[in-house]
Amino acid sequence: MSDLQSELMASIRTIPDYPKPGILFRDITTLLGAPRAFRRAVDELVHPYAGLRVAKVAGIEARGFILGGAMAHQLSAGFVPIRKKGKLPHETVSVAYSLEYGVDEMEMHKDAFLPGESVILVDDLIATGGTAEGAVKLLRKMGADIVAACFVIDLPDLGGRKKLEDLGVSVRTLISYAGH
Ligand code: PRP
Ligand code: MG
Repeated sequence: MSDLQSELMASIRTIPDYPKPGILFRDITTLLGAPRAFRRAVDELVHPYAGLRVAKVAGIEARGFILGGAMAHQLSAGFVPIRKKGKLPHETVSVAYSLEYGVDEMEMHKDAFLPGESVILVDDLIATGGTAEGAVKLLRKMGADIVAACFVIDLPDLGGRKKLEDLGVSVRTLISYAGH
C-alpha cells in the first residue's frame, strides 16, 4: 500500500452496524475534516486529468458534491450536480437507478452540457455500482463524453467497478476495502 493510501485509510472512519446491522459504513467526513488528507485525495483524483481541458466535473449527491467541487476548481472546469429527484429547479432529465432494495430516480438540468462536452464523474464510494450506473446513463443521455468515473473508495466484492467498466467507462479509485 502506498503512503497516500495509508494516509487516506487512516483518515476514514469505519462505523459498524450503520445504517443497519452487519454493514460496515465507511465514513469520509473524517477525511474531509483532515486538511492534508483532503488535499491529497483531491490532488490524486485530478492528477491524470490536469492539462486535458476537461469541461465539467459531475458530482453525485451528496458526498460527490464536496469532492467534485474541489476537483472542478483544481481543473478549472465547471461543476454539474446530479441530484435526487425533485431538487433541481429548472427543466431536468431523469433516470431510474437501482438501490440495494428498490429503485430511485436521479436528475440533472437538461442544459447542463453542450453535446460532446467532456466530463469526469465523481462520488465518494462505489459499491454495487447502481448509483454510478444511473449517473453514466444520465450523462450519456445528455450527450456528454465521459472521460472517467472517480471514487475515493472501492468495495470490489460488490462488483460496481466491473459494472461500469462493462459499460465502457474508465474507472479510477484510490483505495479499496476487500470483504467490505
Ligand atoms: C452511497 C455512496 C454512493 C452509493 C454507492 O450513497 O455515497 O453514492 O451509496 O452505492 P452503490 O454503488 O451500491 O450504488 P447513499 O445512497 O448512501 O446516499 P448519500 O450519498 O446521499 O448519503
Ligand atoms: Mg452517495
